[in-house]
Amino acid sequence: MLNTPVFGAATPQTFYDDIVSKKPDPATGKPDPEKIKALRASHPDSLPQPKYLAEHNPPPSWANSSYFGIHTFKFVNGAKKTTLVRWQFVPEDGDKQMTDAELKSSPPNFLQQRLLDRLKQGPVRWDMMLTIGKSGDPENNPTLLWPADRKTIKVGTLTITSASPQKGAPCEEIKFDPLVMADGIEPTNDPVLLFRSPAYSISFGKQLSGD
Ligand code: HEM
Repeated sequence: MLNTPVFGAATPQTFYDDIVSKKPDPATGKPDPEKIKALRASHPDSLPQPKYLAEHNPPPSWANSSYFGIHTFKFVNGAKKTTLVRWQFVPEDGDKQMTDAELKSSPPNFLQQRLLDRLKQGPVRWDMMLTIGKSGDPENNPTLLWPADRKTIKVGTLTITSASPQKGAPCEEIKFDPLVMADGIEPTNDPVLLFRSPAYSISFGKQLSGD
């Protein structure tokens, strides 16, 4: 999950072109704003995520952020009836945004440290909210939101009771693959969702080999 409700690309090609457009210019050491502008103009599916980010400062803590599954998944029951769903994890500590001043003054890696500090006060919880789609809702495009009036129900709670610094932690050796799903949950034909699994395998292999 990410903490934006939409993704920045409807296809792997846009994701790739977006990364290439942000490659630092050797002359300045920074991305060339003209290249980013050109990318946005030629790839309209790259617009919704930066728009959301421009309107929402980051959270002061991971415990104060919602996380969005973004893709649409299929829930299939015993009679093979399919329901389109999306999900979102909503923090019990509340969604918060940093002010511009806090954003400028925050030290590096403060999010990791704040989670460790927050957990000393007790577990951190998120409600898992499932949104039920209707026929015709976009299912293969992770840059498009569903209408806001779709039925949403609480289906579970995620509780984090402890954490450790990431460096050297056991999670560094776990490969995350969004296509590993429980029985009854199936992927849609979203090209971004289907691309992630092989991309993560290559990345994970490179991490293990130090390549
Ligand atoms: C074409 C689209 C995408 C590509 C090519 C891509 C690629 C990658 C790669 C290479 C990694 C590093 C994996 C590793 O080595 O552990 C990664 C991590 C991650 N991606 Fe993506 N990604 C894409 C779309 C998405 C989307 C749509 C989401 C959210 C819905 C997402 C969420 C994440 C998260 C949460 C991680 C961190 C996973 C972890 O820490 O184990 N990505 N992505």
